[in-house]
Amino acid sequence: HHLLLLLCLSGTASIIITGAAAISRQDFPPGFIFGAGSSAYQVEGAAAEDGRKPSIWDTFTHAGKTFDKKTGDKAADQYHKYKEDVKLMHEMGLDAYRLSISWSRLIPDGRGPVNPKGLRYYNNLIDELVSYGIQPHVTLYHFDMPQTLQDEYGGLLSPNFVGDFTAYADTCFKELGDRVKYWSTFNEPNIEAVLGYDVGLFPPARCSYPFGLNCSVDGAGGDSTTEPYVSAHHILLSHASAANLYRQKYQAEQGGYIGITLLGFWYEPSPSNSPQDVAAAKRSLDFHLGWFMEPLTRGKYPGVMRRVVGSRLPSLNGSVSEQLKKSFDFIGLNHYLVLYVHDYPQSLDDDARDYVGDVSVRISELHKGPPAPMPTTPWALQRLLDYFKVEYGNPPVLIHENGYGESDGAFSLGKPEQDDLDDGDRVEYIRSYIEAALLPSIRNGSNARGYFVWSFLDCFETVLGYSARFGLYKVDFADDDRRRYPRRSAHWYSSFLGKHGAAE
Ligand code: NOJ
Repeated sequence: HHLLLLLCLSGTASIIITGAAAISRQDFPPGFIFGAGSSAYQVEGAAAEDGRKPSIWDTFTHAGKTFDKKTGDKAADQYHKYKEDVKLMHEMGLDAYRLSISWSRLIPDGRGPVNPKGLRYYNNLIDELVSYGIQPHVTLYHFDMPQTLQDEYGGLLSPNFVGDFTAYADTCFKELGDRVKYWSTFNEPNIEAVLGYDVGLFPPARCSYPFGLNCSVDGAGGDSTTEPYVSAHHILLSHASAANLYRQKYQAEQGGYIGITLLGFWYEPSPSNSPQDVAAAKRSLDFHLGWFMEPLTRGKYPGVMRRVVGSRLPSLNGSVSEQLKKSFDFIGLNHYLVLYVHDYPQSLDDDARDYVGDVSVRISELHKGPPAPMPTTPWALQRLLDYFKVEYGNPPVLIHENGYGESDGAFSLGKPEQDDLDDGDRVEYIRSYIEAALLPSIRNGSNARGYFVWSFLDCFETVLGYSARFGLYKVDFADDDRRRYPRRSAHWYSSFLGKHGAAE
């Protein structure tokens, strides 16, 4: 099943630009933001501490649904080690740290009273960042629906979600918006809707599709032909509603920015450039990015989605369309991979299934078999940025994630480094995206305004648990203290940023 295999894809050989004089951040426009990121469930730990209640990720991991059957109960323990981490960020020279708020830590039942200890944690973390001059970039929802809302009305499947999300966002703006200037409402809804509601790799694992490994975490399969579209629709409405609230009630006074963060695969026709395969790649982009970007820029779903999905696609019109068009100051883009696709009209064939089979494409090049390094294809990010320029009016873009994953699991992202700390492949990956994608794109008129390495430190990885690592800092998960160790990539990024030096 190829959605599983998205995790283990490789492309054709990549070209890494070498030999030229090293670039530094001075080559970027003043004000360009360099940072690194994480998300609440993936780093905080303290899952049952100080009044936090479970999210759907706690339920999912406790049911043994990730690759290594581990949980984020303790994760990197950032809840207790945030001061140490912020100091490391300062020493690394980061301008910004991207974090997310655990909704069920702040408002344990999703709606109702705020948990004072949860609020205190985020106040402390944000104060600590600000005291070092590091900008917090805060995501409100990084896949972690409060379990209470899931149980009560089915989470994203219910229109009730919109009001609860807006009230939660209101609390965050009110309590934290004096210091937080960059808000992202949702992280990667364009993959969450598919992995959570079609193939079951993410909670709530509602999938009627038989290949979904983790289907029926609660014994309830869903309707894959409609639920990905319904859940995405409610995310769009919730985004528009929260952004509208921010605009009306907070933005003038607080002076911040609001956006949404999407996963940005680049789709390339392959093996041929036939009109059918070119159309297949374009169709894939529409189902992947256009699904959100067309509503956000034109107030409508892409024409191809409306045609193919028909009445299974909820409709967007009237005031909601108008609201959506004014609902972002920036788009966050998470980019890792290029996917090579060709036309595959037998859309109901299991192998071709993607976005419930409606895309009618097939991924044409799969991993040559681990161990292999994760493919480094900076040209794909260039094309993606160019696509945003041409198709969506060149909005301000923050590359909210880009980074190198290695894994010792069966679904290998990339081969594990020989020496865990000497992560040459990660250095090459990050360096090449900054140097051979970002810089040329900006020189070519792209409106990219920032770049965040995923991740600042090793995290509990979605799907793969601790069997995958992305961190600039290694975290020793076998050690109760969760000690941090800088990898070569931490030193490289730090010297690129040219402020201090990554501390030992
Ligand atoms: C996507 C997600 O936003 C993040 O949660 C995940 O860990 C990374 N990318 C790497 O897969």
